[in-house]
Amino acid sequence: MNRVLVIHGPNLNLLGIREPEIYGSFKLEDINQDMEQLAKELALKLQIVQTNHEGEIVETIQKARSRADVIILNPAGYTHTSVAILDALRAVGLPTIEVHLTNVYARENFRHHSYVAGVAAGRIMGFGPDSYLLALRAAGKLLSVSNG
Ligand code: DQA
Repeated sequence: MNRVLVIHGPNLNLLGIREPEIYGSFKLEDINQDMEQLAKELALKLQIVQTNHEGEIVETIQKARSRADVIILNPAGYTHTSVAILDALRAVGLPTIEVHLTNVYARENFRHHSYVAGVAAGRIMGFGPDSYLLALRAAGKLLSVSNG
C-alpha cells in the first residue's frame, strides 16, 4: 500500500486555541481524523507526526527515506526560515507537497518566502483544513502516476 507521511510543524498542536480569527476553530485532531478517513477511501497508508522542533522535522524527513512514498508537509513558521528542512528534503528526494492552512501571500511579507517551495512537487494553501485533504488527493494522484 502507498505510504504517505504527514508532518505538522510548530504551533499546529494549538489549532482551535491559536489565533482562531486566522486559523479557525477546528483542532488538529479534527484534521487528522478527516485525513484518516480520506486515506482509507484512497487506499493510502498514513503516518502523522506533529512536532514543534526543527531538528525533529529534519530527522522525521530523513527516516522517511525508507518509510514513506510521499511527504505532506506543513512546516508552519519554519517554512520561512529553515535551510535545514530544505536540505533534508533535497537529501531524501521524496515527492513533497507543501501545505498551509492560510494563503501566506495574503499575510505579512515575511511569510511570502518559502524555503520548501523550490523542492516541493506542489503547494496547496488557503483552504483551511481542506488544504490537507486536497494534498492527500494530490499525493494519491502522484502515486498512481508513479506506479503506472
Ligand atoms: C502556516 C502559515 C505560516 O506562515 C505560519 O507560521 C504557521 C501556519 C499555515 O498553515 O497557514 O504556523 O503554515
